[in-house]
Order: sequence, then structure tokens, then C-alpha cells
Amino acid sequence: MKLYIDTAIISEIREIAEWGVLSGVTTNPSLIAKSGKDFKKTIIEICEIVKGPVSAEVTVEDAAGMIEQGKEFADWDEMVVVKLPCTTEGLKACSALSHQGIPTNLTLCFSVNQALLCARAGASYVSPFIGRLEDINEDGVKLIKDIKETFRVAGIKTEIISASIRTPYHVTTVANAGSDIATIPYKLFPNMVQHPLTTSGLQKFLDDWKNSQQ
Ligand code: E4P
Repeated sequence: MKLYIDTAIISEIREIAEWGVLSGVTTNPSLIAKSGKDFKKTIIEICEIVKGPVSAEVTVEDAAGMIEQGKEFADWDEMVVVKLPCTTEGLKACSALSHQGIPTNLTLCFSVNQALLCARAGASYVSPFIGRLEDINEDGVKLIKDIKETFRVAGIKTEIISASIRTPYHVTTVANAGSDIATIPYKLFPNMVQHPLTTSGLQKFLDDWKNSQQ
């Protein structure tokens, strides 16, 4: 499973990119607003930092407007992926953009049927939201497993991006469920690398080495 970071804050992306673990970045209008920076400049800067797909989300609700925005975003950098909502208008825009060779990420996906429609409309990626499903007492990880199986049976190549990840354990479980990608908030990365036995084991190695040199 590939790892993306789910943020529009440049310092966060730079820090985790230095670890050499990032394959891409996702943003959404809320994350861009939180960054307080210009949308276009932010997406272009992210594309310079991470050499992988960078999702930029449309901010209109009609297909014609989404297509217009999508074409504009795609001109900013060849790694831009146009993020579209999983609605009828989003499907129409997805179909039109994919016919023009523009990659798309269909977001706010909460069911197998939505994922199937996105795939048939030509989506490069589909983003099921794990955390938000759990917020309403539904099994987000099961949805990833079900979409994976549906895509496998149908021979669908659309990649699954597990989104709305809230805990390090979500990362483990969606990886085991066969997700192609997980897009992870910045604050979870340090939690993923830390382990008390690594910390104590390293301390012991360094102490033993130091004592042997005296
Ligand atoms: C995915 O692409 C979204 O940006 C994101 O994962 C949403 O997560 P949230 O439910 O924590 O807002």
C-alpha cells in the first residue's frame, strides 16, 4: 500500500517527504482553507516537493463548472489529479475529464455502488472515507474490503485511496484490507514510526556501546 499525506500545509508535507515515504498528496477545500494560503500556489508548490499524484478538489457543484476547473487545475502541473465529488454531476465531469486523459479522484465515497459508478465513469482513483463512516457507527474497513473484492471480480483498475484516516490502526487495517493507497493526516506519521521497544532497544545499544569504549 502506498502512503499519501492528507494536508495542504507545506511545512508538514516537506517534513514527511524528507522521510522518503510519500507517494502522493491529497487536499480538499477545508484543508486548503485551513492552510490559509492561495490554492493554485499551494498545489504548484506541493507538486515541486512530492513527485507523485497531487489531488486538487473542485469547488463547484455542476458538471460544466467542474470540467472547466478540472482542465484549469490539470494545466498547473502534470501530476495534478482532479478531485471530484461522488455525485451525478461529479460522475459526468469524471467521464468527460477522463476521456481527455485527465486523471481524477472521486471523493466522499461511502458505498460499493458509488465506487463502482466512479470506476465505470473512468475514475483513476476512488476515495472511501473510513473515519466518517465510523462516526455514524458503520464499518469503514469492511467497505474497503468490499470495494477491493468488487474491483477484483470485475477486473477494475481504479485505485482505492482509503481516506478520512483517524488512527495508526486504520492504516494497518486498510493495508490488510487491500487498499492501494492510504492518505494520512500529518499528525499520525510520528505515531506510526514510534514504538517503545525501538526507543528502549536503541537506548540500550547506545549505552552498551558507550560503556565498551571507556
Ligand atoms: C481525503 O481525500 C480527504 O481529504 C480526507 O481524508 C477527509 O478526512 P476527514 O474525514 O478527517 O476530514
